[in-house]
Amino acid sequence: MQVREYVSLKPFNTFNIAAKASAMIDCQSEEEVLEAVRSVVGQRRVFVLGGGSNVLFLKDFDGVVLRPLIDGIDVVEEVGDETIVSVGAGVTWDDFVEWSVTHGLYGAENLSGIPGNVGASPVQNIGAYGVEAKDVIESVRGVRLSTAEPFELQRDECAFGYRDSIFKRSLRGDVVITRVVFRLAHTFRPHIEYGALRPAVEALGEVSAANVRKAVISTRNAKLPDPKVLGNAGSFFKNPEVDANQADAIALSHPDMPRFPLANGQVKIPAGWLIERSGWKGRSLGQAAVHDRQALVLVNKGDATADDIVRLCEAVRADVKSLFGIDLTPEVNFVG
Ligand code: EPU
Repeated sequence: MQVREYVSLKPFNTFNIAAKASAMIDCQSEEEVLEAVRSVVGQRRVFVLGGGSNVLFLKDFDGVVLRPLIDGIDVVEEVGDETIVSVGAGVTWDDFVEWSVTHGLYGAENLSGIPGNVGASPVQNIGAYGVEAKDVIESVRGVRLSTAEPFELQRDECAFGYRDSIFKRSLRGDVVITRVVFRLAHTFRPHIEYGALRPAVEALGEVSAANVRKAVISTRNAKLPDPKVLGNAGSFFKNPEVDANQADAIALSHPDMPRFPLANGQVKIPAGWLIERSGWKGRSLGQAAVHDRQALVLVNKGDATADDIVRLCEAVRADVKSLFGIDLTPEVNFVG
């Protein structure tokens, strides 16, 4: 366990926002997480940080930033056509996906190239190209901050939804996830109907998990800014879900609006399209900008403060609201 006081958070958030934490505790095992939580519980505020790829620090954090840097990808058992794998929260998400594809274990390949750590994957139920983390998660283990007791939740107990889970609702701010258990298939079943994924995979040759992974990574690289070059936290907003009536009304004046009907009768509209139509794609406000290749992503052009990002976020929301009557909800976790 490593404890540091007054730590700059700039290297630990992909938005590259300058903020400080009063302390940072790095834990290498579940035991260390328990020990750390017991030492601070009830005394100091705690914020759990994974890869820092979905947070916006609004100001300095007066409390302890706890990092569960638990390593290890362990095969637990084989059940029929599936393998159960337990993965440490600190494993880089894409290292796990690469490992799975290399070992002939399938289900996570569409989630290639997503930044962040495995421990964060259940929190917002990360998703891309028609697959979500919940499709491969078996259970989630961790420690509750309020009680300093370990917990384990099965998939059905996690209340997974679109970019949503129990960890963003009733357990928000109350858990350190230490391990995620996945259920991966021995048989590859391609999911390539999203957008232009099928032609991108077929252009590479056979429809294999390795080629799905390659196609997803190159599609992402073509659209999404590399946080090492341009600070960002991926999609800044969620794609809104509206009533079919509202979608029909908007489509009257915007017949080319992309719309994706959902099982519950609502319609999902791409926030990127709404933002682009509001004229914001590629535009800046101070040091913050709307990315020029994917309008759903806000970027730090270099020295943006959290205020710059928030001001841009509010300007974009106001214009989308006045043009379409839709409230965009940020997907990024605001801290402070
Ligand atoms: N679109 C535009 N202009 C834009 C961006 C998008 O018109 O600037 C429209 C287009 O019609 C496009 C559609 O939006 O066909 C969908 O775009 P895209 O495939 O890029 O996906 P998205 O809905 O914008 C979501 C996820 C991404 C994920 C992609 C691919 C959310 C909030 N975002 O974006 O996730 O990579 O699908 O599956 O659901 C992330 O969460 O950080 C993230 C990058």
